[in-house]
Parts: sequence; C-alpha cells; structure tokens
Amino acid sequence: MTQSSIEISLAGKAALITGAARGLGAEMAHTFARAGASVIITDILEKEGQATAAEINNSGGTAVFIRHDVTSESDWENVVASAVKQLGGLDIVVNNAGIEICSLFENTTLEDFQRILDINVNGVFLGLKHACKAMKPGGIAGKGGSIINLSSVAGLRGYSGLSAYCGSKGAVKLLTKAAAVEFGQLQYGIRVNSIHPGLIPTNMGEAVLKGFVDLGLGADEAAVQQAFERGTPLGMKGEPADIAKAALFLASDQSPWVTGAEIVVDGGSTAC
Ligand SMILES: NC(=O)c1ccc[n+]([C@@H]2O[C@H](COP(=O)([O-])OP(=O)(O)OC[C@H]3O[C@@H](n4cnc5c(N)ncnc54)[C@H](O)[C@@H]3O)[C@@H](O)[C@H]2O)c1
Repeated sequence: MTQSSIEISLAGKAALITGAARGLGAEMAHTFARAGASVIITDILEKEGQATAAEINNSGGTAVFIRHDVTSESDWENVVASAVKQLGGLDIVVNNAGIEICSLFENTTLEDFQRILDINVNGVFLGLKHACKAMKPGGIAGKGGSIINLSSVAGLRGYSGLSAYCGSKGAVKLLTKAAAVEFGQLQYGIRVNSIHPGLIPTNMGEAVLKGFVDLGLGADEAAVQQAFERGTPLGMKGEPADIAKAALFLASDQSPWVTGAEIVVDGGSTAC
C-alpha cells in the first residue's frame, strides 16, 4: 500500500466565524485562512476584530471584519448578506461567540441567567436560522455547507459554579442535533456539528480558573489547575490550535458524512 498524506484544504470556500476577534475564534480564523478559505470575522470587539483581520491579511490570507452582535437578528441579516456579497458565497459558519459566568446557583440572578442564554443560545439559534436560509438550495449562497457550533465539556456534564453556562452549552448540543436532522432530511446539503472543548487558555479559560478561586472551589489558581490536571488523562495541554484543527476537519470536504456529531476535544476529561 502506498503512503499518502491528506492535507485539509478549504480553498475556494467562504467562512463566517462569530466572536473571532480573539481566543478560539481568532485561532480558527487564522487556521481556515491558512487552509485557503476567505474569512469574515465578526465580533462586538471592533478594535481586536480589525487587528485579527489585519494579521491574517498581512500573512497572505483573506479576512474581513464586520461588527456583529450575535443576539441581534437584524445584525445577522446584515452580516450574512454582506458576507455573501463580499466573499461571493457562504460555505462555513462557526457559531463561536460566547460568554461564561461563574456563580453558585443560589447567587445567580435571573438577569445573568438570561444574559448567558441570550448570547450562548439565542445567538446560536439565530446563526443556524440565517446560515440555513442563505446556504440552503435557493438561498443567496445556495450551495449547502458546514455549520459548527461551539458547545463545551460543560454541555456534556455538570460543573459546580457554572450552572448557567452548563445550561446554555447543553442547549447548544441539542440545537445542533435538531438542525443536523432537519437540514439533512430536507436535503439542504448543510451539515451541523458541535465541538466540546475542555478548558483552554484564552480570556474565558483564565476567567473560569479565577472564578473557581473566587467561589472558594480551590485555594488558588494553581490548585484549581491541579484539580483539572488530575481529572484529565492526557493532562491540561489543550491549546486553541487543538480546537481549530477539529473545526477545520468539520468545515472541510473531509467530513462529508459527519453531521449531528459531538466532537469532544478535552484530553479525555469527560471520559473519566
Ligand atoms: N476557552 C475555553 O476553555 C472554552 C472551553 C469550552 C468552550 N468554549 C467556548 O468556545 C467559544 C470561544 O471561547 P473563547 O475561549 O475564545 O472565549 P473569549 O472570551 O476569548 O472569546 C469569546 C468572543 O466572543 C465575543 N462575544 C461575546 N459576546 C458576543 C456577542 N453578543 N456578539 C458577538 N461576539 C460576542 C467576545 O467579544 C470574544 O471575542 C465560546 O463559545 C466558549 O463558550 C471555550
């Protein structure tokens, strides 16, 4: 048997990634651009979003930043129309924007709970709705494609201090499956999958460590980190690139029969 290597390419594809000014979204934007995709970076952080787009363009890729609040339906309508106009199509949408709140149940305000659902769940719902309308046959992009939703290990199991976040990410897991089934059965040519990262060092990952200390769930950040380390068979070595590689596979034509899947990238923590 001859040895052959598979290089994953997104050449000729147009991708929209929400919350991509920084963190996992920015890493996915860089990775997709290196694989040949044209990328629309959206976020509420304008300065950081412009800077990420400039970094990609300066290193030979193609990226455009558009300000976009994922909780706004009119923003979604504008951003999808603008993505199709500027990139000539839309093949990949990553619903990545999200927030976390570290708080015990008894101290979580309804306002905080609703805010996290608004961004993490309503934002993904709107993304699925408007991506589907554009990508399905007869839509303004019309060629089908791949939608990827960022859930979490917290969408698969419970964590103290993360009730609102767990609830929101569990909802993302099943919104993903419902969309995968519906878009598949309607033969839209749109695959929908979720990624479930373990703790990754980004602004959010660091805020979770700090939040656990503030809640008294560990003496200090090192102690919290050690507790995660003990519960992770491969150790806490996860980086944004690990998530971007999983997203690259799901975004590409290398995963044509993968839909409704939960891709867990967590060093084995949820297998314990
Ligand atoms: N880092 C981790 O440990 C981890 C683990 C599991 C899942 N996740 C998920 O991965 C995704 C990315 O997280 P991250 O670690 O890069 O976090 P991050 O805080 O670094 O980045 C999140 C981005 O989302 C943007 N955002 C927030 N509200 C928005 C809104 N209303 N509209 C548009 N953009 C908005 C932020 O401005 C920010 O740029 C999130 O959905 C998060 O829940 C992260």
